Amino acid sequence: MSTPSGITFRHLTWILPLGAVLALAPFRPASSHKKIDQGVRAQLLLGRSLVLNHDCNGCHGGADPASAGWLAGMTTPDQEFLIGPCALTPGATPCFHTRPRNLTPDNVTGLGRFTERQIFNALRFGLRPEDTPDVTITSMTPGKGNFPTNPHYLAPPMPWSGWRFMSDAELRAIAAYLKRGLKPVTNKVPDSEGPPDFWASSYTVDKIGRYPAPAFPTANELDPR
Ligand code: HEC
Repeated sequence: MSTPSGITFRHLTWILPLGAVLALAPFRPASSHKKIDQGVRAQLLLGRSLVLNHDCNGCHGGADPASAGWLAGMTTPDQEFLIGPCALTPGATPCFHTRPRNLTPDNVTGLGRFTERQIFNALRFGLRPEDTPDVTITSMTPGKGNFPTNPHYLAPPMPWSGWRFMSDAELRAIAAYLKRGLKPVTNKVPDSEGPPDFWASSYTVDKIGRYPAPAFPTANELDPR
């Protein structure tokens, strides 16, 4: 038997059930659940790859994701940094000891205490999550657009001034990986030492450049057009 459009009865026997499955698909919890999981997984894997290719573990611990101490922060004093003249001349002052912190989602000693937005703000603006509220920041002028009036910045050598140029999606993916893609590890890293201005005088535009970066091409660059 053949229908007017040339579709045979035999075709209809599988087209109809297939149509019913497709029509119902959006309401089937199992399949929509799977879809969300795949999106989350892709985001976490992007975050993981950005962590690997930015060498976060070079300071925050571990040789690769399978190794002990992966991103769990410094564990021995030789992993501290000396910031100030003492970095070159032992005993010179001022001298601040700074310490790569535990980036695993442990609730007491790691990033479990902070939201993904606080981690985003740390990477985009250099703001120390412990001292910065969980808000969306829309300006970089202290006191405006939720930017803190007295910003408490992360201590050097945390290279946020470079990491801030990653896209919003990339920084969110890193925050998602740290919070949801890692198992918590308990490791209390002592606080970093720092100047009374919380490094504000080290992170001026003169020293770390503008965000966003000036448009291409600047006087130093060649436009191939
Ligand atoms: C050159 C060393 C170095 C590298 C590389 C580095 N960090 Fe850090 N990071 C630090 C130090 C030191 C601190 C502690 C700053 C402080 O105590 O104020 C820190 C602090 C942080 C914090 C704040 C944690 C908290 O509890 O306050 C986050 C988040 C962070 N780093 C994420 C990253 C990520 C993500 C990367 C890679 C994209 C990275 N870091 C690469 C040295 C580094």
